Amino acid sequence: MSQSISFYHRQAIREVDGADVTRTVLQYLREDAHCTGTKEGCAEGDCGACTVVVGELTEAGTVEFKAVNACIQFLPTLDGKALLTVEGLRQPDGSLHPVQQAMVDCHGSQCGFCTPGFVMSMWALYEKHGHEACGSACAAAKETPTRTEIADALTGNLCRCTGYRPIVDAAVQMFDAPPPSAPVDTAALARTLASLKRDDTFDYTVGDARFAAPRTLDALAALKVERPDARILAGSTDIGLWVTKQMRRLDDLIYVGQIAELKRIKHGDDWIAIGAAVTVENAYAALAGTYPELTEMWKRFASLPIRNAGTLGGNVVNGSPIGDSMPGLIALGARVVLRGGDVVRELPLEALYTGYQQKDMAPHEFVMGLKVPTRSGARANLRFRTYKLSKRFDSDISAVCAAFAFIADGDTIREPRIAFGGMAATPKRAAQTEAVLDGVPWHEATAQAAMQALGRDYQPLSDMRATRVYRLDTAKNLLYRFWLETRPHDPLQPQALSVREVAAETARA
Ligand SMILES: Cc1cc2nc3c(=O)[nH]c(=O)nc-3n(C[C@H](O)[C@H](O)[C@H](O)COP(=O)(O)OP(=O)(O)OC[C@H]3O[C@@H](n4cnc5c(N)ncnc54)[C@H](O)[C@@H]3O)c2cc1C
Ligand code: FES
Ligand code: FES
Repeated sequence: MSQSISFYHRQAIREVDGADVTRTVLQYLREDAHCTGTKEGCAEGDCGACTVVVGELTEAGTVEFKAVNACIQFLPTLDGKALLTVEGLRQPDGSLHPVQQAMVDCHGSQCGFCTPGFVMSMWALYEKHGHEACGSACAAAKETPTRTEIADALTGNLCRCTGYRPIVDAAVQMFDAPPPSAPVDTAALARTLASLKRDDTFDYTVGDARFAAPRTLDALAALKVERPDARILAGSTDIGLWVTKQMRRLDDLIYVGQIAELKRIKHGDDWIAIGAAVTVENAYAALAGTYPELTEMWKRFASLPIRNAGTLGGNVVNGSPIGDSMPGLIALGARVVLRGGDVVRELPLEALYTGYQQKDMAPHEFVMGLKVPTRSGARANLRFRTYKLSKRFDSDISAVCAAFAFIADGDTIREPRIAFGGMAATPKRAAQTEAVLDGVPWHEATAQAAMQALGRDYQPLSDMRATRVYRLDTAKNLLYRFWLETRPHDPLQPQALSVREVAAETARA
């Protein structure tokens, strides 16, 4: 018998039955709960008009709040969680929440369509950072974010009329305002969510459609053996669009977002092990600790609400030729860990991709996680960069995504690994270019020879993002940029070049 979807919203536990397994949280809010503050703009995770905050119980028993896009989240994924929407911001005494008051004071809204989404992204930031007015008396008081951090938190919210400066001003000002008269009681919320926590698989069915959310790896493995054709659902930032844009019907879903083992990150001496259901945001935060070279890619991957929902496992399994994580992970020598029934196996990430949208993965298998080598031993001298070319800096899909790595043995290149996205039908290593580089000194002439070899590794296509010629030329230029940024120290020339200098030298090459 089907269980009900149970979640917390507006001071009450909501129990939902009979809603389609792919009914979105946005559809539920607007059409069923009649909470129409949350808006629909694009229905594909791009505009942020539908931003809500989801509160989730962590393994430590605290509540973690994350801004996500309601338009591509399916309602059954809310089971056991809290849903916070713009309707809940006004305080019981009628006063506005500091986030709302700051938007009014800074003139952060004109037509108002985008405003609830902005306000919820700002509220998540406010909760994460606390507020200065509480000072040390407030347990939640933390460092206030910089303007750059505020801008990053708002990259997923588009406004067509106000302009962003007043909105960012409001996000700065909200931290100086008096605290809300009734702040969120996170301890009480944690107790409520603990009372909703299930010991076993959540099983929700509507007619023939089924949504299962196992709580352990063993339960997931057993379910996937029993129903190999069931679709694994993680953050829904790819799958959500299959429903809202391609109108696909999905009626057998296994959700992995309730499996604690898949949401862990383990730091070992030789490997960082990242569970498949770790969010893109948390995975990049962990990886950037060891590889700060990934920081720009992290910040340019979609927007914060997409990174809060989307998982590294989902990015890797989707395996889009223009996905952003694969080139960097492949260049770093990452391995993917798969499980089917009781059998666990692992393979180099590049070996997972066998053709366009084809993978070395049996129907009953799933990805458990990724193992990324650390900088231990000889890898202390790893030279690594990854670059993303897209028309917009923020929240855009790559035309070309490049990653280069090698171990510097003095001036000599060892174990070069190069991978590109946007240059072939899959994320792909540049075997011929690597052969040119292996074991030779890292000189300008070597870089030039490697640039030519790229043309033998890749025959890219022209599409709406870039032409074939643009892709090949920029791939070569990125390799030259890598040379400029990692060349051995020359006492007559400073090793680190400014962005402007790199651009000038690249143009010259
Ligand atoms: C607005 C927007 C912007 C985006 N920007 C970017 C971007 O800048 N760069 C980029 O690379 N991507 C981007 N994406 C794509 C997407 O966010 C990523 O691919 C994301 O990592 C997918 O993860 P998910 O958890 O949401 O996957 P889902 O949508 O839940 O699943 C994706 C696929 O992976 C499978 N899957 C998931 N987990 C597992 C598992 N453990 N085992 C087996 N199969 C599994 C699913 O069955 C499905 O086939 C964007 C998407 C949107 C909507
Ligand atoms: S409606 Fe545009 S992101 Fe959801
Ligand atoms: S105020 Fe009109 S879209 Fe932002």
